[in-house]
Amino acid sequence: MALTAQKVGTKPYDDQKPGTSGLRKAVKVYQNQPNYTENFIQATLIAGVGDRLKGSTLVVGGDGRFYGKEATELIIRMCAANGVSKLLIGQNGLLSTPAVSYLIRKYQTQGGIILTASHNPGGPDGDFGIKFNTPNGGPAPEAITNRIFEITKSISEYLTCPALQADISTIGTQTFQVDGATFTVEILDSVADYVTYMKEIFNFESIKTIVAEGAVTPLKILINAMHGVTGPYVRRIFVDELGAPESSIINCVPLQDFGGHHPDPNLTYAADLVKELKKGQHGFGAAFDGDGDRNMILGHNAFFVTPCDSLAILAQNLDCIPYFQKTGVKGYARSMPTSGAVDRVAKSTGKECFEVPTGWKFFGNLMDAGRLSLCGEESFGTGSDHIREKDGVWAVLAWLSVLAHTNKSVEELLMDHWNKFGRNFFTRHDFENVDTAPANEMMANLNALIVDPALVGKQYSSGDKTYTVAVADNFSYTDPIDNSVTKGQGVRLIMSDDSRVIFRLSGTGSSGATIRLYIEGYESDPAKYGLDSQVVLKPLIDIALQVSQLQELTGRTAPTVIT
Ligand code: G1P
Ligand code: ZN
Repeated sequence: MALTAQKVGTKPYDDQKPGTSGLRKAVKVYQNQPNYTENFIQATLIAGVGDRLKGSTLVVGGDGRFYGKEATELIIRMCAANGVSKLLIGQNGLLSTPAVSYLIRKYQTQGGIILTASHNPGGPDGDFGIKFNTPNGGPAPEAITNRIFEITKSISEYLTCPALQADISTIGTQTFQVDGATFTVEILDSVADYVTYMKEIFNFESIKTIVAEGAVTPLKILINAMHGVTGPYVRRIFVDELGAPESSIINCVPLQDFGGHHPDPNLTYAADLVKELKKGQHGFGAAFDGDGDRNMILGHNAFFVTPCDSLAILAQNLDCIPYFQKTGVKGYARSMPTSGAVDRVAKSTGKECFEVPTGWKFFGNLMDAGRLSLCGEESFGTGSDHIREKDGVWAVLAWLSVLAHTNKSVEELLMDHWNKFGRNFFTRHDFENVDTAPANEMMANLNALIVDPALVGKQYSSGDKTYTVAVADNFSYTDPIDNSVTKGQGVRLIMSDDSRVIFRLSGTGSSGATIRLYIEGYESDPAKYGLDSQVVLKPLIDIALQVSQLQELTGRTAPTVIT
């Protein structure tokens, strides 16, 4: 059937500014406002693909959350009308964020659209998100997201092809004639390409020696997909390929509302996994977020590996992974609030280590320039230059590779690290959904405080600890590759012993404000390595609350989430 594209008139919205990772809003914001989704997609196609739109190929996929199917179908019709030649789409619209990044790179497309609000809850009352990734497979840089926002503020029409009906449930190729040009929709097995890639990166035979049913040196593992998109990937990789028993994987059916839970792998929201591991029957546990880019790693008895330490341990042991044996280890990076544990490894291995603002998009240039192999964020993100997104399943395979290679337990690896380098204690306190006005006031006060010349050298005391402020600033970053400057990325008080107190507002929330308070303190006394970080960091937490007047301004006496 010959189809025609149509122009549809529309009115702009003023709130479509992409945040740390795409546009995230309540589902109802997309659903109940005319053309809200269409406007953002049209702006994304213009700003993200631009001149290359005609004849282009794009990848489309998401984490299976509510409204994802409608959005996928809408994107198909709009891409057809905008002159895109071909879409590669995961079956039923499902693709993990790392898989999208890989497919963009593997098939050298002009980018991709990811439908996810990551770890935010889903369902009709939850959140939805749209994110554009560029041809390198990574999240669009600010130059593009700012341009998207500009377009959304004045958009007056979008293009669509209302009569086009594609079937996204059947693997295979469908073609359509739109205004005389061929438009192809290829529905892919959501996991096949990604699994093949993981088998190239890692030595599956080695991992099998610890996880396969009947292994000689068995490590009982428990992987929790939290009803996010990783379920099918987890099943194919851990059960079908690595031979782990069926009982090693749970919550592997993707659900539109993630079973009513918050699909975020941390001690608060993955409490089920923690409880199960505390029974002492497993040597390794892991969980992922809704779109599969985050991971949490636990050892025996739910021994918690902070993402900061996880990054450092992997940095120390990358050589046992075939991918890095081929590429060599180029350098490391972490987001600014992430602890300096990896910096200590970098110093000992003589590699470069970069500190970038929060958000994975800041790692891409360094990877593309061949300066960066491994990076991570304290927010449960770990990944490498194998793609341009963080990758939860990759992180678990990396950990299992290290465990198989060293024959050590998770706890032993951590102890080795602390004994060698000392322990960078780290915690993050989140105050979610705070009123916007007091949150902004707090940040304004802090910004005023840090320019006061009297602050540097000032001493703060709490309990038996006294800290002297050595540096006070709002983190600003100059990208070493393209020299772009990103300012205002978090207020920092760095003490004379390198302890840090950092404040920033979240850029991924969908309503109100979320204050993130990051605390880092370093200890080199082995007697303290086994202590609870909340206890060790209490003096710094108290000082942070005192300096910011957080409790007085927001009325919150306790964080909603501690990681
Ligand atoms: C949060 C994390 C950040 C991560 C982002 C996307 O952003 O803090 O590290 O890159 O989610 O997963 P925030 O809400 O703090 O802006
Ligand atoms: Zn995510």
